[in-house]
Amino acid sequence: MLLLNKQESEILSSEITPKETYRAFELNRRQLMRGLGSAGVAAGLAAALPRKAQAEVKIDNLVATQYKVPDRATTPEGIAKSYNNFYEFGEEKDDPAKNAHTLVTYPWSVTVEGLVAKPRTFQFGELFHLQPMQQRVYRFRCVEAWSMVIPWDGFPFSELIKAVEPLPDAKFVQFLSLANQKEEILPGGIHWPYSEGLRMDEAMHPLTLLTFGSYGETLANQQGAPVRVIVPWKYGFKSAKSIVKIRFVKHMPPTTWNELASNEYGFYANVNPEVDHPRWSQAHERLLNAYTIFPKVVPTLMFNGYGDQVASMYAGMDLRKNY
Ligand code: MTE
Repeated sequence: MLLLNKQESEILSSEITPKETYRAFELNRRQLMRGLGSAGVAAGLAAALPRKAQAEVKIDNLVATQYKVPDRATTPEGIAKSYNNFYEFGEEKDDPAKNAHTLVTYPWSVTVEGLVAKPRTFQFGELFHLQPMQQRVYRFRCVEAWSMVIPWDGFPFSELIKAVEPLPDAKFVQFLSLANQKEEILPGGIHWPYSEGLRMDEAMHPLTLLTFGSYGETLANQQGAPVRVIVPWKYGFKSAKSIVKIRFVKHMPPTTWNELASNEYGFYANVNPEVDHPRWSQAHERLLNAYTIFPKVVPTLMFNGYGDQVASMYAGMDLRKNY
């Protein structure tokens, strides 16, 4: 997730970074995670699942977004769909594209429960057709200091919130991903199911997108098919994939990365160039927008460039403490 200020025409195709460039970085990251958690189970963990089945839906009802798109070249689709984090399918960036074909995305339902007047289980088709799709180009800024610009297709998550009528005590929303494997521990020491959360005002914000597709097509499995969230002013790990449960709760819910290393991954996780990760600076990001040995490095923008639209939600909060 990210954004910036270079015109598309100025970006050279030679500016894209091959995965080898990240190898050393990734090794460091994995070493940390092995230290933190139990052994990686990785690769073939979904091998026992039935063959994939796709939901019969098409993204053909896109309406123009009312939000400005970032002034930055769009990441080539091939990169966005082959360099992913989806630990359920392995911890290497290219593992999800190799392994997630075993994810069964149909039939699929999403249960909405907790502090709502109208708890409900949506069959995927009902959810997909709840509102017309909008396409938005979002900067995607990862905590590991790389970034992409991806056109995501979906509708504001607030539409679902309105449909289930939260009770006054509902202060946070928790997203839970599919957990259909036998292993309790994912590669990297992560526990099932992947959990993320937002404060209610963040969840209601019109930039928070319930996402069904990208580049005008339904999501690829490795991107979190058939439905995920995108929260464009936050680091990528806030955007839970392959969601099966949405819970409205009174207290801040436990979240996967925060439970694994709370000093590194806060609940808020707003993109903030001024607050360093304990092991590296967050002031710059490498653009994965082209295939190149030397990726372009650019300054990271506060709130990923969406400050005008989201900063007021954090007025008065110490963002060094609430990182
Ligand atoms: N959701 C689930 N269920 N499992 C995951 O491992 N990884 C997170 C987030 N959502 C993850 C997840 C992280 S760390 C990132 S950076 C983004 O998804 C990556 O999304 P992308 O692979 O589509 O770019």
